[in-house]
Amino acid sequence: MSTSLNRPPHEWLLYGAYGYTGRLLADEALRRGHRPILAGRDRARLEAFRDELPGSPLEIRAFALDDPDEIARGLEGVRAVLHAAGPFVRTGIPMMEGCLRAGADYLDITGEVPVFEAAFERSERAREAGVRLMPGVGMDVIPTDGIAALLAGAMPEATRLELALQSPGPPSAGTLQTVLEGIPGGLFVRRGGRLVRRNPGRREFRRRVDFGPVPGEGPMAGRLGGERSVAPYTWGDLATAWRTTGIDDITCYMATPAWQVRLLPVALPLLRGLLSLAPLRRAARRRVAAGPAGPDREARRTGRSRAWGRVEDGTGRAEEAVLELPEGYSFTALAGVRALEALLALEEEPVGALTPAGTFGVGWVLDLPGVEVVRTTAPILARPATS
Ligand SMILES: NC(=O)c1ccc[n+]([C@@H]2O[C@H](COP(=O)([O-])OP(=O)(O)OC[C@H]3O[C@@H](n4cnc5c(N)ncnc54)[C@H](OP(=O)(O)O)[C@@H]3O)[C@@H](O)[C@H]2O)c1
Repeated sequence: MSTSLNRPPHEWLLYGAYGYTGRLLADEALRRGHRPILAGRDRARLEAFRDELPGSPLEIRAFALDDPDEIARGLEGVRAVLHAAGPFVRTGIPMMEGCLRAGADYLDITGEVPVFEAAFERSERAREAGVRLMPGVGMDVIPTDGIAALLAGAMPEATRLELALQSPGPPSAGTLQTVLEGIPGGLFVRRGGRLVRRNPGRREFRRRVDFGPVPGEGPMAGRLGGERSVAPYTWGDLATAWRTTGIDDITCYMATPAWQVRLLPVALPLLRGLLSLAPLRRAARRRVAAGPAGPDREARRTGRSRAWGRVEDGTGRAEEAVLELPEGYSFTALAGVRALEALLALEEEPVGALTPAGTFGVGWVLDLPGVEVVRTTAPILARPATS
């Protein structure tokens, strides 16, 4: 299908530009010579943010995500949207629909499974419209989708995949709001190709992960790597790694102190119950909003994170790998802008709902700044990236 003839001009829009991560994406985009249109629902905040930025003023567009016609008008002439306004379970579908109407590619930085699934449900329509839908171009799922692809390449007969993130810094307020939003939904894993809900207290989730060598000095001394307890988590990889690798059994985790893991079976149902009450949910949101917006500049500059993956084939053979990465929000900014560049650089194909490693190639993640393999049993990872 020819998609380039009716494409809007080569221009892109950053929605949620004045949010914590939106600002980092805007900074990174400017550093790399882009001039994105800054967008969000509050004109005054957009103007104030634009005026903080160096150079000649960027175009701004203020529109909310409630009315499809308003969104379509907001996206006029736009070639791609990098969507940074979450929780995406609230904002992702309206923006995807807007992109389908406007013929614009859609990227976001979500880690929320329902948003990925919503994109894949729209894949056929996106193909017909010549549009790409690529959720998850941040800390989740770029590194883990890359590891999944590399490990599946090293063991094509793998039947089981596990992924984990170790991100020792504090989350942003927006991330916390998104976690609060997701807690009532419960824990999911992928089994036999299907998303299934599981009790996080189950024995199958009790495991430790070797995140690789522990730095002996510097800001991350003792805080990164090592053998750590992990808690199961509903990462977006349950949607993407399945499509990227075809492996039907997937479990995701995040490094979590052992005492918190022990509390999970009691604490999570309790939290779910409390958060199902609207006044308590609102109080929790207010409390998060009153806290820090996210890690400060120094924490973003000096912080590091790790991503781990393991595949096995059911006969006892397994391969593992650990990537080290910049701090989570710094990584999201640099990966998000590079994913957008890589997507815009693609010719007419592929279109539809896409995964990062499935689109940009096995090894793309290894070419991102500050990414290195710190532990691997899979020889394929020891080689420099080739695609
Ligand atoms: N997967 C990853 O690796 C990753 C990494 C970083 C961030 N994230 C996600 O990115 C999202 C943003 O995080 P953040 O730290 O930047 O949060 P933030 O500072 O709270 O910013 C959120 C932005 O979203 C806008 N927004 C929220 N709800 C909206 C709605 N219904 N309509 C229009 N705009 C809306 C807010 O605008 P107003 O101020 O006008 O409400 C604000 O600009 C979160 O969901 C977070 O989990 C994911």
